[in-house]
Amino acid sequence: MAEQQKQKDIWSAELYGEKVAPFVATSTTKVLAWLDPKPTDEILDIGSGEGPLTACIAPHVKRIVGIDGSPNMIEHFKKAYPHIESRVVDCRRLDQEPSLTNGSFNKVFSNAALHWILRDPETRSNTMKGCFEALKPGGLLVNESGALGNVAEVHSAIISGLVTQGIPVTQARNASPWWFPSLQAMKDLVEGAGFTWVKGEVQLRQTTLTENKNGGVEGWIRLFGEPFLELLPTAQARDAAVKHAVDVLEAVGRQQHDGSFTVNYIRLRFIAKKPE
Ligand code: BEZ
Repeated sequence: MAEQQKQKDIWSAELYGEKVAPFVATSTTKVLAWLDPKPTDEILDIGSGEGPLTACIAPHVKRIVGIDGSPNMIEHFKKAYPHIESRVVDCRRLDQEPSLTNGSFNKVFSNAALHWILRDPETRSNTMKGCFEALKPGGLLVNESGALGNVAEVHSAIISGLVTQGIPVTQARNASPWWFPSLQAMKDLVEGAGFTWVKGEVQLRQTTLTENKNGGVEGWIRLFGEPFLELLPTAQARDAAVKHAVDVLEAVGRQQHDGSFTVNYIRLRFIAKKPE
């Protein structure tokens, strides 16, 4: 937590859930089918955000606990769903949370969060160790997150926007807040923590962003791309980089006839099991 508190909280629950990415909580049919919630389940939801998906699962299970590194998200979670357990937890150090890693859950679940949490190679195994220790023997880890090449067109448009503002490409690249692994790289990480791989898949999902007045592609870049934009010293330079990125996306055909933008999300889903 001490380390966590030093970090800037880039997350705004209002922007995320209502304006920029409401589709994250709604495009979940497949991962929920893989989670297969049961009335006896006790589930730890990693990177729950402000909890809309946790709240969908809650009525179907015995217990679910939402955890997220963003105090802003958890504040909104507690207001919206006071009856569901939620906590601010730096999931990069999940293994250092004894009250969660005492083998009391039979499922650990995560949607659209591990690509942020696993960004730093130094702490990846701490997160996985925490997932493993949170589970009872035979328990399942069920995840969906970004795969290799996820949102590549926006990713490259943002990097190109930074380069136009004088940031060297390597520095822009290193500022990426995401880890989008191949299925094999994720499998290696998960098995390295002691899990048995049950199944996994990668799926292209074209995703239409919200209308521009509600955030749209610009809102997406400003919210999710903030760690990139922070490299620039002035609001003017940041605005110019964002405009460049939007222009590039329009130029490569990501804008539809109705003005909306479409992004190629590539999902990586898997189930892994803690041995009995
Ligand atoms: C994703 O869910 O794949 C994602 C969301 C925001 C930024 C990057 C990736």
